[in-house]
Amino acid sequence: MTINQQDLATLQSTSNTINNDSIEKKSVGENVSQTVNNSAETDIIEEELSEKELPEEDSVDITHLRTPIKVDLSPVYNFLGARTTQAWVDAAIENLPIIIQDHANCEKKAAGTAMNLIFRYEFSYDLQRKLAQLIREEMLHYEQVLGIMNERGQEWKYLSAGRYAKGMLKHKRTYEPAAMVDVLIIGAFIEARSCERFAALAEVIDDERLAKYYRYLLKSESRHFEDYLALAQSLSDENIDERVAFFKEVEAELISSPDAELRFHSGTPA
Ligand SMILES: [Fe+2]
Ligand SMILES: [Fe+2]
Repeated sequence: MTINQQDLATLQSTSNTINNDSIEKKSVGENVSQTVNNSAETDIIEEELSEKELPEEDSVDITHLRTPIKVDLSPVYNFLGARTTQAWVDAAIENLPIIIQDHANCEKKAAGTAMNLIFRYEFSYDLQRKLAQLIREEMLHYEQVLGIMNERGQEWKYLSAGRYAKGMLKHKRTYEPAAMVDVLIIGAFIEARSCERFAALAEVIDDERLAKYYRYLLKSESRHFEDYLALAQSLSDENIDERVAFFKEVEAELISSPDAELRFHSGTPA
């Protein structure tokens, strides 16, 4: 969910030389390979995650949100190479204001990153449509988190970006369409990790309203993960499995290794 502004600037500069004609244009739905395991046996999603579906309620005030539906997180857990450690969960609960502040940053950056992709890869209708919806949802989440901060009397504080997104983006290939495919795969990992962490926090957080809000986020964030992954495959000439496996290792290492800074996507507390 987080790609910081510096990373964005780097991405932008490396992609200025892209000739869109060199990227094979594919029609909507063509070769979209769903790599997420969503077998009927494990699928306990009570409500179909349809891309046509818009949030039934888009209230900025989290008290007016519908009861969160139960979302099957097994595709998220299978996709990720490591689960969040108890030490991170404990530190997050101890330092909730930092986590809430960084969550606000993450929502804003998620929208900014997607907007950047929309401007850069205009040839793909599928990408435009999916990311336009994603931006709308991330900005709503941003407003909701701002509301939570306001209610808690929590002032906005500057927080530097953690190592997480940078740690993946430094492995991004520098030529197209590989660069675009890598950014989309990284987006899938960031969304999947966000989902996993919201679920972990919701289980233990001592604030039922906030826990409910984190459960409410699971539906959209798990769809964002699947959308990024499907886009990466549909816009790639090659099978992306090897690249996904590579980033799976990188991401798991960033989450499992000691990290001096506590952030929403930080590693295990050093
Ligand atoms: Fe979000
Ligand atoms: Fe998201």
